[in-house]
Amino acid sequence: MLLEKKKRKGIVKMISREEAFDLLKKYNKDSFHIQHALTVEAVMKWYANELGYADEKEYWGIVGLLHDIDFELYPDEHCLKAPELLKEGGVSDDIIHAVCSHGYGITVGCGETIDVEPIREMEKVLFAADELTGLIWAAALMRPSKSTKDMELKSLKKKYKSKGFAAGCSREVIERGANQLGWELNDLLDKTLQAMAASEDTINKEMLAG
Ligand SMILES: [Fe+2]
Repeated sequence: MLLEKKKRKGIVKMISREEAFDLLKKYNKDSFHIQHALTVEAVMKWYANELGYADEKEYWGIVGLLHDIDFELYPDEHCLKAPELLKEGGVSDDIIHAVCSHGYGITVGCGETIDVEPIREMEKVLFAADELTGLIWAAALMRPSKSTKDMELKSLKKKYKSKGFAAGCSREVIERGANQLGWELNDLLDKTLQAMAASEDTINKEMLAG
């Protein structure tokens, strides 16, 4: 990509994927959190391809990888502590904005409501898909295969509608995410399930490799 184009898009001096993964692991030791970060990274890359941003795939992935960087150590200051950790790690402001915007409108444990609005399509995709990946993974773990690869949209929709299932995954946030994108909820469910099924084997391998 030409430098001018990069400058226009505000992605100059992007942290490498390796640096981003090291930074994530500096603040996250729990394998559940690492797996979630890898999942959201893969889902973001899948969406970049799907939505015509293939040349920004790596960039979308890094945002996904880093989005919950502050959650393990600072759950009550989720999205508030992230700028400090990311800045220290040399992450650019555009990525910091994207990371913080995935908490838009959410009141975190310390009582503050995140006011960073998702503006770019990439940010709206992160907002919509993040919470949903948690629900889809919880649904996968209920299956004999413990996998998303043989999960049908019909069965995901059933789980989604069941209020008692994965109650911690906010349907309100997921639906707000779909609205922000101007998508039907079913479209979001279908695409995110496809993205997770396509990347599951690679993520499992990466988790085993440590
Ligand atoms: Fe997340």
